[in-house]
Amino acid sequence: MENQGAKFIELLKKVLIDYHRIDLEEYRPLNGNPKILTAIVKLFNRRYRGKKIALCELNDTSKEKRMQGLDWPYYADTMIGMKRLDNLEFCVRDVIKNNVEGDFIELGVWRGGATILMRALLKVMNITDRSVWVADSFEGLPRPDEKTYPVDKGDQHHTYTELAISLEQVKNNFEKYGLLDEQVKFLKGWFKDTLPTAPIKKLAVLRLDGDMYGSTMDGLVNLYPKLSVGGYVIIDDWGAVPGCKRAVQDFRNKHNIKEEIRQIDWGGVFWRKEHSY
Ligand SMILES: C[S@@+](CC[C@H](N)C(=O)[O-])C[C@H]1O[C@@H](n2cnc3c(N)ncnc32)[C@H](O)[C@@H]1O
Repeated sequence: MENQGAKFIELLKKVLIDYHRIDLEEYRPLNGNPKILTAIVKLFNRRYRGKKIALCELNDTSKEKRMQGLDWPYYADTMIGMKRLDNLEFCVRDVIKNNVEGDFIELGVWRGGATILMRALLKVMNITDRSVWVADSFEGLPRPDEKTYPVDKGDQHHTYTELAISLEQVKNNFEKYGLLDEQVKFLKGWFKDTLPTAPIKKLAVLRLDGDMYGSTMDGLVNLYPKLSVGGYVIIDDWGAVPGCKRAVQDFRNKHNIKEEIRQIDWGGVFWRKEHSY
């Protein structure tokens, strides 16, 4: 049975990144800049919808990119790639093996794939006393709050409509895998508003994937104190977004956190919490 669970998780991770379909080309309806092009495309697509013809763009992807989480997939349920899914699985299994108390959370879930993996791991291990928290605006990233977080000045993430995935869509994604139940808890809203009062008692895995300085700092300030000793913090955007790395460095310096930062792939890092502060 245990072996079957492991095989299911291996297959699930491939499905979550759409690895099995990567040799087929990924197309999505063109929605580019400049605005005039968008208008022409919309007109064309409306005119020819009945004939099932649409102007599309082709995603420049590959198996290697999908392993490393180097592209924004058109269809997959997560963009973090296989290496970071493997790391998440390692962290979840390790805290369970070592009886580290607490729930699991991801801040910044997009289509929900990483949180779906966490819920699936609980399922295959028959664990019913831990929850998976799914925290997101479900509307994309916030405009930079330059007053509070000057490092985010000029940040453009809020303009990326591809990053705005609704709560309904994410719930549907959980449902697709038969994993939507009371052990999955949704926190909808900006982290600065939801996290200070979130009814989370303890965490064993804290996964941060909010890209910006402010989103990363809001997560660390509000939730790192709730992370059990022996638990893991995972920083998805360390190598991808300089502001995120800065937030982590500022937080670690302020609280004198010395645990070794371990690299997952080109972008992600993590560490095991050894001391409370
Ligand atoms: C890069 S995506 C996350 C990718 C995801 N972890 C995956 O597995 O594919 C970033 C997400 O963070 C969310 N986000 C970023 N900053 C936020 C904030 N301050 N409050 C709420 N949601 C935020 C966005 O809505 C978006 O869904």
